[in-house]
This record gives sequence, C-alpha cells and structure tokens, in this order.
Amino acid sequence: MYILVIGTGYVGLVTGASLAEMGHHVTCLDIDQAKIDALNQGIIPIYEPGLEDLVRRNKAAGRLSFTTQYPSKLSTCFIAVPTPAKEDGSCDLKYVMAATEEIGKHMTGPCLIVIKSTVPVGTADAVRAALKTSYPFDVVSNPEFLKEGAAVTDCMKPDRIILGVDNPKAAEQMKELYAPFTLNHDRILVMDNRSAEMTKYAANAMLATRISFMNEMAGLCERLGASINHVRVGIGSDHRIGYNFLYAGVGYGGSCFPKDIDALRQMAKAVGYETPLLTATHTINERQKKILSEKMKKYFAKTGGLKEKTIAIWGLAFKPDTDDIREAPALQLIEELLSHGADVRLYDPIAQEKGKMQLSHPGIAWCTSEYEAAQGADAVALVTEWKQFRFVDFDQVLSSMGGKGFFDGRNQYKPREMKSRGFDYFCIGIPDQIS
Ligand SMILES: NC(=O)c1ccc[n+]([C@@H]2O[C@H](COP(=O)([O-])OP(=O)(O)OC[C@H]3O[C@@H](n4cnc5c(N)ncnc54)[C@H](O)[C@@H]3O)[C@@H](O)[C@H]2O)c1
Repeated sequence: MYILVIGTGYVGLVTGASLAEMGHHVTCLDIDQAKIDALNQGIIPIYEPGLEDLVRRNKAAGRLSFTTQYPSKLSTCFIAVPTPAKEDGSCDLKYVMAATEEIGKHMTGPCLIVIKSTVPVGTADAVRAALKTSYPFDVVSNPEFLKEGAAVTDCMKPDRIILGVDNPKAAEQMKELYAPFTLNHDRILVMDNRSAEMTKYAANAMLATRISFMNEMAGLCERLGASINHVRVGIGSDHRIGYNFLYAGVGYGGSCFPKDIDALRQMAKAVGYETPLLTATHTINERQKKILSEKMKKYFAKTGGLKEKTIAIWGLAFKPDTDDIREAPALQLIEELLSHGADVRLYDPIAQEKGKMQLSHPGIAWCTSEYEAAQGADAVALVTEWKQFRFVDFDQVLSSMGGKGFFDGRNQYKPREMKSRGFDYFCIGIPDQIS
C-alpha cells in the first residue's frame, strides 16, 4: 500500500517507519525543511530507542522517503501533526485543518484520511466538512497510544488499534493496512469516530488521574507516618488495581497528559458539564510539580534560603529514554530555583541538547555527567529516573559536593542507606521515621 504520513515528529516518524517495516511504501511529509533535510541525510531529529535502525533499513530498501512536497497521487493519508493547547487550554486544530486543506488540494482520486493526532471529539466530522474535493473519501479516527521511550515497540506491537469509522468499507481498508501488526491476535477495535476520539482522551485522563491519586496519597503518607512505597505494593497487588502508574513523584509532564487533560476539561466546559475529577487531577499535578522546590526551601530555610545555593539537577527529560522536555517537571523546578537566586548545574544523558536550545540563563551550568553536576553543589535533585542514575558512586558524589542535601523526586534510592552514607536525604511520600 502507498501511504503518506503528514507530520514527521514522535508519532509520524515512528508510525511511518513502522508501516514501512511491515512492507508498505511510505512517504513522510513535514513542513519543517530542516527536519526533512536531516532525515534525508540519515540524521534522526528525535531520540527514540530502535528508531534509527528502523529508518535506515527501510530508507535503504526504498520503502521510506522524506519530503516537504505532496506527492502527485494520494490514496491513504495519515495526519500526525501537533494539536497544541490554545491559551484557554482548548485544543488548537490549526495544523490538522492546514493538513486537511492540503490533502483536498492534492487529491486526484478516492482517499482514506486517517487522523492519528489526538483531536477533540467531533474533529473527524469537522475534517469531513472542511475537505474541499469532488473525489470520494473516508475519515478514520485512529488515535495513537505509543509511549515515548518505547514508541517503536508500542507501534510495532500495539496493545490495541482503535478505528473510528462511519462506514464498514473504511474499517475493512484499515484492517488490511494493519494486518501485519495483528498476526498474533486481533487487536483491532472498531467503533464510531467520536468514541475513538474520546477513547484517547479518556485513556490519558485515567493514567494522569492515577498519578495524581498516588501523589496525593504520598502527601498524606508523609504527614501520617506511612510509606507510599509500601502502600503502592500493598494496593498494586490487588489485581483490580495492578502495579502500573502507581509511582509517586514530581508530577506528570510531557507533550500529552497536561495538554490532553486541559483539552478534555475545555470540551466539557463547552457542553456545560462539570468535571471535578479532571480538575483535581490537574490541580494536584500543579502542586506536585513544586514539591522538590518546596522541600528545598524548607531545608535551606536556616541557612539563608535558596539564594546563592548551588543545586545539581539530574535529568531534564519528562521521563527516561526520551529527549522530549516538553512540559517536563524539571523545567518548572529550574525556573523556581533560578527565580530564588540559586544556581543550577544540569545534566541529562540524552535531553541535554534540547535543553540547551530552550534554557539560557547565567545561573545555569551544563555538565557532562551526574558526577560533574554534583561538584560543589549544596544539594542534588534527581528529577528523571534514567537507568544510569540507579547505580551511582555516592561516596564520590558526596565528597565532591559543597553540601549534603539529596532530593530524590522519583524514590529511586533507599532512604536509610542514603542517610547512612551521610546525605540529608528527602524523597516523596516516605516520612523520616520509617525510612
Ligand atoms: N508524542 C507522543 O508521545 C504522542 C503520543 C500519542 C499521540 N500524540 C499526538 O500525536 C500528535 C503529534 O504529536 P508529536 O509528539 O508527534 O508532535 P511533534 O511536534 O513531535 O511532530 C509534529 C510534526 O508535524 C509537523 N507539522 C506541523 N504542521 C504540519 C503540516 N501542516 N503539514 C506537515 N507537517 C506538519 C511539525 O513540523 C512536526 O515535525 C499530537 O496530536 C499528539 O498529541 C503524541
């Protein structure tokens, strides 16, 4: 099958490369000339495990190409463009509509239009209404569920493929397209467009709510003398609850959860329906993103506050195995520390370059390792739980520091062990007396 993927970011590039790997002929199109030039030179503009090999292999096999120009013939078009938040939190569909307009201009026959971007309920109808063409077409809602850091695996072996359609023919065409991904067992769920669009928001809202719930429980644990780690295992062992997404930390970030929760709240507002649970999920997360800076303010209160303190930050990416720093909790922490007159020493194994493009301040020093970041620091803050931070020579870290504060935003270390090494150690949801 010949497929055009519009938008060559985390979703579009991984989707395009995965479809090519399954034997389809895929053209990935983007309006960003520099991105397309880089891809044509074999440079992958994002970090995603396994992606470079996948792209190289399929490009060499002639099944994957990159362009800024629409091809002369369109048959199946995936839309994977951004759907950012507007000022009021509602979803901005301008990129989706721009892509729709271009598809309409370039159609030369029947076309299947597949919306991969996360879009508000009713967008497939809006795309149908906006498409100006005399040729027949179908609009399929096919939301993407990949996780950055595991995007290639998620795309090649999806838990499920959601297809929102308004006629059975479109569903059959999509099933054929996805057949190579579903050889083991049928993972395809067919429904109407609106339900498919809603499924994506409901999934992200559920996951974000679990995180906020655990963060709220962690705050209670600290105050009531219980450990969130024990509570997590205790509740996760109930198969109705399960262990996933039960980790307390510094709040959720990334390019999806925050904007999707906001967009869903705005969709609810537009139809006059109150969503107190979504509001709570959001509010708890905003509070949680400040947790490390609040703990630091308390810790340094007796020694003049954060002013002129030096804080090492381990990890910028919003989670491990990605270079994505969009809405990363580390960004808010850095801003807070700098605004209180602290200096920061930053290190991230992969997201450093993206960080440098976004962050510039005389109080920031970029470091080449976690050890270098810790040198001379009054405290270290672990924000992203990269694997390489699991086993660190803490004696070396402590001996190079100017102080002995350690703020573990991901509960990665054993409190008693860290304290016995000599750190003033703080984590999330574990009070002193149990550690
Ligand atoms: N990143 C994720 O983990 C993830 C997961 C599931 C769903 N989504 C959703 O998928 C969509 C894309 O997200 P992303 O993270 O891949 O975005 P991204 O910002 O990484 O990439 C989007 C790409 O689209 C390009 N683009 C913008 N307008 C265009 C146009 N009119 N024509 C062609 N290209 C255009 C941009 O230049 C950019 O390269 C969003 O709706 C997002 O919510 C993202």
